[in-house]
Amino acid sequence: MNPFGSAGKDDDTPFDGSGLKIKSIKTRRQLNEAEFESILRVTEKYLLSKPGHKLAPFTFSWLLELHREMFGSIWSWAGEIRTTQKNIGVSPNIVTAELGVIAIESENRHNETGELVLATAAEFHHRAVWVHPFEDGNGRWARLLANIWLMQHDQPVTIWPATDLRDTESPIRGQYIAAMKRADLRDYGPLIDLHKKFSE
Ligand SMILES: Nc1ncnc2c1ncn2[C@@H]1O[C@H](COP(=O)(O)OP(=O)(O)O)[C@@H](O)[C@H]1O
Ligand SMILES: [Mg+2]
Repeated sequence: MNPFGSAGKDDDTPFDGSGLKIKSIKTRRQLNEAEFESILRVTEKYLLSKPGHKLAPFTFSWLLELHREMFGSIWSWAGEIRTTQKNIGVSPNIVTAELGVIAIESENRHNETGELVLATAAEFHHRAVWVHPFEDGNGRWARLLANIWLMQHDQPVTIWPATDLRDTESPIRGQYIAAMKRADLRDYGPLIDLHKKFSE
């Protein structure tokens, strides 16, 4: 039996532990804890004080680097564009171009202030998930990305209820997925509202 469980209750992305760097991790719980610890350190790096453009430049290579920082101690494929087709996300051969769009848009919108900042953060958040560049960790990477953008532009960050977002039974997760689907249709209202709801 696969100790990590199949594509089921806990996670959207099916995986079998291939690429796992820490051999002592045997269960989903141990994996969750290791990932949480690692992500916490990266969150502190970027969000303990306002992250400048130098620390978080939103370039193509930095977008990959952020994922590597979050998951690189655990997964061999961290920060690397996936090679396989997933049920969510664009075809792997256009991931590079689509990430390039985020990088270019971040340049175009770098001087935005006020209300526009949250709208742009929500748009980047959605686009990052929609592209789904990596094997796994796309949701957590996209949410941190949005928070770095918010704080870099002097707006409050969004404290997502991590347990609810993981729990397929949770109504909050339902709202989150529904908001993502509205954003697929270029209606960012529900996602912006969710950001506001969990705003610090
Ligand atoms: N049906 C869906 N439509 C759009 N986005 C979805 C859907 N289901 C899940 N997602 C998004 O994909 C993410 C899960 O992708 P994954 O790579 O497993 O990230 P993580 O491991 O950080 O949760 C969720 O957080 C959510 O943002
Ligand atoms: Mg996952």
